[in-house]
Amino acid sequence: MDLKNHAATPIYTGLQNYTQAKIIHFDVPGHKKNPVSPLAEAFGEQIVLFDANSTKDLDVLSNPTGIIKEAEALMADAYGADYAFLLVNGSTFGVITMIMSACGPKDKIIMPRNVHKSAINGVILSGALPVFIDPEIDPEYGITNGITYSAVKEAIRANPGVKGIFLNNPTYYGTVSDLKAIVRLAHRHGIPVLVDEAHGSHFPFHPELPDAAMHVGADMSTVSIHKTGGSLTQTSAILLNEGLISKEKVRTIINLMQTTSASYFLLASLDLARKHLVFNGRQIWGNLLALSAKAKAEINKIPGLSVITRDDYVNGKEIYDYDESKLVIRVNELGLTGFEVYDLFKEKYNIQFELAETYVVLAVTGPGDTAEDLTQLVEACEKLSRDYYGKKPPFHLPLPGYFARPQAVVAPRDAFYGVKKQVPLPEACGEISGESIMIYPPGIPLVIPGERITEEIIDHYNFYRKQNCIIMNDDGNIDFIKVLGE
Ligand SMILES: Cc1ncc(COP(=O)(O)O)c(C=O)c1O
Repeated sequence: MDLKNHAATPIYTGLQNYTQAKIIHFDVPGHKKNPVSPLAEAFGEQIVLFDANSTKDLDVLSNPTGIIKEAEALMADAYGADYAFLLVNGSTFGVITMIMSACGPKDKIIMPRNVHKSAINGVILSGALPVFIDPEIDPEYGITNGITYSAVKEAIRANPGVKGIFLNNPTYYGTVSDLKAIVRLAHRHGIPVLVDEAHGSHFPFHPELPDAAMHVGADMSTVSIHKTGGSLTQTSAILLNEGLISKEKVRTIINLMQTTSASYFLLASLDLARKHLVFNGRQIWGNLLALSAKAKAEINKIPGLSVITRDDYVNGKEIYDYDESKLVIRVNELGLTGFEVYDLFKEKYNIQFELAETYVVLAVTGPGDTAEDLTQLVEACEKLSRDYYGKKPPFHLPLPGYFARPQAVVAPRDAFYGVKKQVPLPEACGEISGESIMIYPPGIPLVIPGERITEEIIDHYNFYRKQNCIIMNDDGNIDFIKVLGE
């Protein structure tokens, strides 16, 4: 990486120059940069001044030749990729694009069962056939983790001609599979590796963070720079190491679905975040890792609470690496669920967690966090323990310890578009599902569209219901399921 190039912010600078030119606008957007518009009154004049449509000066996201092209080259350089494609529709769009770039109808793709729903959407839209691998489960924390090298090897052996391997780097909770070995294995078979790095956009910027996908030779990655990189919400990038997948293919798929009116606020924020990460990322993440380690050590001493650290997780749990910037705090020993603690923290201490699961809450750190924020988190944990520890028995849900393995009988896309009827779930044995049902914990789909509903699935469903697990489907009516048929 040539550092001096990264001082440039082509989109942000181009936008500033364009704004200062005091152009009379007979193009869209309709607020025409008028400072007395309601938008300007609500958010300040800058919001309308910097909100622009694509023009020759500002380049076009769908076919960049100017400042966006320059910004994409800098983004690729920052992440060690051959190419980068800036996105204004989140990593949801990036994940779908990656799957559609590698797979067409009836092509097989290997993926963990605990993928984000965007990957299932990508399978539906591409017409691909998913080959699922069960992730490792941590029964103590009630969360799903990564997949093993040996499971990927077996899936490749059992599925000759598979067109892609998709995995998370890291999972929502920070666990990382042996990506480098999986990439080597996949490439020996000519299979591209597509990586969901929605939660790993900070990985390249500090040596103590896990390996980034592009650095270990993966073919494509999607990074949610808005999640941990400091850019505005909705901004992400697709990164490509060309070879098994061409940049033309990726651009074609992007242009099927991405807006033709990308927000320059969002695009410029990617430029500014990339520059900040390149120049200051090492110091920022070094500081955050130290603050996070200190907070974890303190939380681990608090009665009734525990938090995952790299040392106790990587050794002995078949987990290859762990992102120490995340704090997965287990709360069930207080006799509370993660969901209750999530609400208590907001109501009592004004602290917003990223998410809750049955036994845990997840605190995500990012470039904007301060030492004071982490001190307040630890203090709130101490207060919570004082209020609840020892007053109720620990909250515990026995989970089945294995996943039901539904058989896929119809391609997810065909099931999605098929004629459907709604039936009571306990009576759906033998039917083919027309929707996904997600269970938390352990955070995996019970069925996805096209899979056969068996007695075993219904047993698992009844079991999870009895345990008060969170069950999610398309319309929230969890006593029923949409199945194929008139
Ligand atoms: C693992 C994973 N992949 C993809 C996404 C989608 O990212 P975005 O919100 O940027 O669309 C998420 C969102 O939380 C995620 O958790």
